[in-house]
Amino acid sequence: MQGSKSKGLYLTTFGCQMNEKDSERIVGLLKGLNYRLTDSADKADLILINTCSVREKAEYKLYSTLGRYKRLKEQRGTIIGVGGCVAQQEGERLLQRIPYLDLVFGTHNIHKLPELVREIEEKRLRICKTEFYTELEPDESFAIDEGNKVKAYVSIMRGCDNFCSYCIVPYVRGREMSRRSDAILDEIRRLAEKGVKEVTLLGQNVNSYGKNLEGEISFPEFLRRIGTIDGIERIRFTTSHPKDLSDELIYTFLEVDKLCNHIHLPVQSGSNRILKAMKRRYTREDYLRKVEKLKKVVPGIAISTDCIVGFPGEREEDFEDTLSLLKEVEFDSIFSFKFSPRPMTEASKMGDQVPEEVKLRRLQVLQDLQKGITLKKNRALEGRVLKVLVEGKSKKDDRELTGRTECNRVVNFPAPEDLIGRIVEVRIEKAFANSLKGSIIG
Ligand code: SAH
Ligand code: SF4
Ligand code: F3S
Repeated sequence: MQGSKSKGLYLTTFGCQMNEKDSERIVGLLKGLNYRLTDSADKADLILINTCSVREKAEYKLYSTLGRYKRLKEQRGTIIGVGGCVAQQEGERLLQRIPYLDLVFGTHNIHKLPELVREIEEKRLRICKTEFYTELEPDESFAIDEGNKVKAYVSIMRGCDNFCSYCIVPYVRGREMSRRSDAILDEIRRLAEKGVKEVTLLGQNVNSYGKNLEGEISFPEFLRRIGTIDGIERIRFTTSHPKDLSDELIYTFLEVDKLCNHIHLPVQSGSNRILKAMKRRYTREDYLRKVEKLKKVVPGIAISTDCIVGFPGEREEDFEDTLSLLKEVEFDSIFSFKFSPRPMTEASKMGDQVPEEVKLRRLQVLQDLQKGITLKKNRALEGRVLKVLVEGKSKKDDRELTGRTECNRVVNFPAPEDLIGRIVEVRIEKAFANSLKGSIIG
């Protein structure tokens, strides 16, 4: 292949950070077939959509996106493929439903992609590959990185065993499986050599890291070891399940300086009745105790969360419980969603589904409440000097740079470009709902 003209890959990614990471792997793996990313679907030889299925709306995005490519298939013979969680969920049905689709590949089959694409190029077959494997994909297929970056995602596990009653993830990502820590540590060392300053460890439930691996180190020990890698200045991880957040992990924030003082700890609901129906396996009181401990042991830690409104059977008083929990905790930020019934999940079959207009109203009320809290917490940072890892130019104003604080706030500030990739001190001058503005010190 060397020397021959490269082919264009147009890739669209929906969903969570795990999907973004998978998309990076896809780009890296397809380089072997001489594909390079292009920003125009019209000129691409291969169009791939990496999909999310967590809510109906996310799944729907696939169908509206695909519709735009039908014409390209007819005019240019572009190869079109769908991967990710909807691919896993729908499998062959996608090929049947969409006649111009060439390829469906599931969440365990990313490493097979070069083989599959080559087969389609050569034989013009239509392929669906959605098997689950009990073995993890080879480490080489994880440890792919895309050039000069300041921040990198690192997959430390895949899948989930929790089966929360509303959630499709265990069905589309399979059983929980951790990667070996020595392979991950090697990967992080290589990233550090290439100039990466911040790593975010990814898994649906990182607190149970190593569960399926005999003799594997604990997650806190793993964090300590990453903390010794030269060049890596910041460590983050996501997501933590509240039921598995241990005291040892809380104290690790103190031991490992490089661990950023932010944790994403999805609560979903403040009502014990709903938490039980969601099968979250903690109570409101358990959650509040953990938050209290986090705040006590790690002063100033930023806490973010996810909430679902309108879970089946959620009454007004349950919703009030969620509001009161938000007031009590004062999260730095939240992601909130209307419950969406998903195929295969228990909650989709429950009676007492909440009407759409009630869900909408509750979401609005909850978001309004949180907006005030977020702004108040952002304002409390005005006047403070915070360390910011500079990620690049600001999107809104290219005379400004943008980066994040340890507590995960976006900060924009005027400064010369050569600071990109460095950690600098910024005085916070003005707080907004979703970002901060500041000026650089020194
Ligand atoms: N593994 C993570 C999150 C996975 S999905 C965790 O356990 O927290 C991200 C978020 O999507 C969830 O936290 C939840 O708030 C939301 N979500 C998942 N399924 C949903 C559904 N059926 N309807 C609405 N929101 C959902
Ligand atoms: Fe879904 Fe629950 Fe697993 Fe998170 S822990 S991915 S919400 S089943
Ligand atoms: Fe979506 Fe799959 Fe992630 S369902 S949220 S892309 S694990």
